[in-house]
Amino acid sequence: MKILVTGGAGYIGSHTCVELLEKGYEVVIIDNLYNASEKAVDRIKDIAGKDLVFYNADIRDYEKMNSIFSKEKPDTVIHFAGLKAVGESVAKPLEYYENNIAGTLNLCKAMRENCCKNIIFSSSATVYGDPAFIPITEECPKGVCTNPYGWTKHMLEQILTDLHTADEEWNVILLRYFNPIGAHKSGMIGEDPKGIPNNLLPYVAQVAIGKLPFVGVFGNDYDTPDGTGVRDYIHVVDLAKGHVKAIDKIKENPGVKVYNLGTGKGYSVLDVIKAFSKACGKELPYEIKARRPGDIATCYADATLAKKELNWEAEYGLEEMCEDSWRWQSMNPDGYR
Ligand code: NAD
Ligand code: UD1
Repeated sequence: MKILVTGGAGYIGSHTCVELLEKGYEVVIIDNLYNASEKAVDRIKDIAGKDLVFYNADIRDYEKMNSIFSKEKPDTVIHFAGLKAVGESVAKPLEYYENNIAGTLNLCKAMRENCCKNIIFSSSATVYGDPAFIPITEECPKGVCTNPYGWTKHMLEQILTDLHTADEEWNVILLRYFNPIGAHKSGMIGEDPKGIPNNLLPYVAQVAIGKLPFVGVFGNDYDTPDGTGVRDYIHVVDLAKGHVKAIDKIKENPGVKVYNLGTGKGYSVLDVIKAFSKACGKELPYEIKARRPGDIATCYADATLAKKELNWEAEYGLEEMCEDSWRWQSMNPDGYR
């Protein structure tokens, strides 16, 4: 069975490709390398000991997409390709809507043209906005997003659902990720942000390696046990395995399905700094700063639906997430560069 992975050279995509190859799937990657390195593609092959097909191509290029789909004839698409920096999306809404929305429309047109109507989409817990209840089940109403990035996920979920409404041959699985962190056990692939990281874990990792002086903690006056923000951090390898389980599900022609991929446990910013300090063997300095606009106090999943219907459950805890993230960071202080 052949799986086409858009954005497969990126952080979550690269880990998913390893799991797919190890399960015996044929893998075709499409990535324009905007936020990735071709080295990641070589390392996926090295870890899995198997080959794959890589196209340096942009999902917005319809002719190219059409020619790749007609040549490769994949059974299912896992669609990771997209821009994901929240702050940048506020500054560049047109670029975000164009890349994420127009890119996905284009991809789906090429899929339809070539009779490939199975898609697994990278959505996010961001679609719940400030969640109506915690832990968040899939029944929780979608909320108001605070930035264009979040709206692209919100809108694309609707667009993909409408595809199925119009044509029942489409199968759509929307995976709402919580906070993916960590790296492959080999230390060969991991998250490689450009410039100063926006997200907590890569920031903490760069403090640990000595590139940044201290962690800024965005607020300690939230209504949480220690006052800092609480999130559901999930090991990227667990997340990757969730996609393999979603492929098993899509083979059943399920129509439209939505699953939260999280651990169901919430950890605070201070919990993360403490766990990472243990993993790297030194106390990491931090300073309390003002709250970051748009942040919410608490966000963690109820992941029982994924357990019941996908037979998937996260296995790794925060300690292993930090150890694996540190192994990647210390083995590759400059990422893939
Ligand atoms: P990433 O930036 O590492 O991976 C995305 C990949 O898509 C990159 O390799 C990039 O080069 C590629 N890409 C972007 N635009 C493209 C285009 N027009 N054509 C072809 N390739 C293109 O990000 P990631 O963390 O691996 O995230 C993967 C997906 O999961 C994204 O859609 C993201 O929004 C979503 N997501 C991520 C998180 C997270 O915390 N990392 C959380 C929720 C959802
Ligand atoms: C962010 C995005 C979300 C996106 C997700 C994955 C925002 C508001 N939300 O989620 O839409 O889906 O990333 O890309 O950006 N923190 C610090 N110091 C830091 C960085 C973060 O204290 O330097 C805190 C935050 O306030 C938060 C927690 O750490 O409480 C996690 O932050 P982050 O890693 O950015 O993820 P989210 O905000 O949950």
